[in-house]
Amino acid sequence: MDLKIKHLLDIASLSKEEIEDFLNLAENLKEILYRPIPKVPTLRGKLIINLFYEPSTRTRFSFEKAAKTLSADSLTFTGKGTSIEKGETLLDTIKNLEAIGADLFIIRHPVAGAPHFVAKYSKVPIINAGDGTHEHPTQALLDLLTVKEKLGTLSDLKVAIIGDIKHSRVAHSDILAFQKMGSTVWVSGPVHLLPDIKEENYFKLSERSFKICYKIEDAIKDADIIIALRIQRERHGEALIPSFLEYHEFFGLKPEHLELMKEKTILMHPGPINWGVELAYEMEKYPFQVILDQVENGVAIRMAILLRFLTGERGYEDFN
Ligand code: CP
Repeated sequence: MDLKIKHLLDIASLSKEEIEDFLNLAENLKEILYRPIPKVPTLRGKLIINLFYEPSTRTRFSFEKAAKTLSADSLTFTGKGTSIEKGETLLDTIKNLEAIGADLFIIRHPVAGAPHFVAKYSKVPIINAGDGTHEHPTQALLDLLTVKEKLGTLSDLKVAIIGDIKHSRVAHSDILAFQKMGSTVWVSGPVHLLPDIKEENYFKLSERSFKICYKIEDAIKDADIIIALRIQRERHGEALIPSFLEYHEFFGLKPEHLELMKEKTILMHPGPINWGVELAYEMEKYPFQVILDQVENGVAIRMAILLRFLTGERGYEDFN
């Protein structure tokens, strides 16, 4: 499929067909990761630069693994030891790294919209690896891939997202992504961490496909998927309300919730997890939690993204 977009900035600007294309390609590419030598030469000679202005484990290392599996050269930059410390702007950094030969940038930044800003001026593709509280589109794609693998469908599902919805870029991308694929998203959490009325209109793609509820029990009852979220402490300022203890009491997912859930509700979390806060320790043993499957799928989905943006519409068969 020939991409209509030059950059991957958010789920809001992806069509359902484009999302399906990334998922199909990733499903096919996964096989490469299980080969005795998990490497193909497809992106040899391409230079991918990871600009991470915020901490990351999963996103950063899975993009690096994806690039190395496809034989691209991958350089990672976390701000330290570069001219950012002397006041160089993000845009100047991009222009200079383009001059050095970058073919694609992966950007994580604390400011919502930072990748969108530089994308206007960049000659090469920009992939948003999480911008402030706005979106984390590659996480949503790997979440969709995981659900498709586990349940065989992405439509007519009830998806419950629990936690700090307001500050979670993962929630924002997942809310749009699951609705685009034909499912209904229910969000629940402390009232001041839920979307307000204006934001609700942004998230609601149809009248019936997005619901806000104030009790976790309403969201998780009969849900096909539960996505638990970390409290984004770093974006809250001084006061943490509710405290972690209170949060666990009112919104943490615990064994006592199992009787409300479907027999095989899928449990997801984008990481990092605060065990004992959003998830009781016992939930690690829950047989349908797929948290490490999500991480594994992160590599495949990021391989698909790198291939689509660096090689255009070539199919999986061209990469063998
Ligand atoms: N899911 C996610 O974005 O994790 P990292 O912050 O570790 O990349």
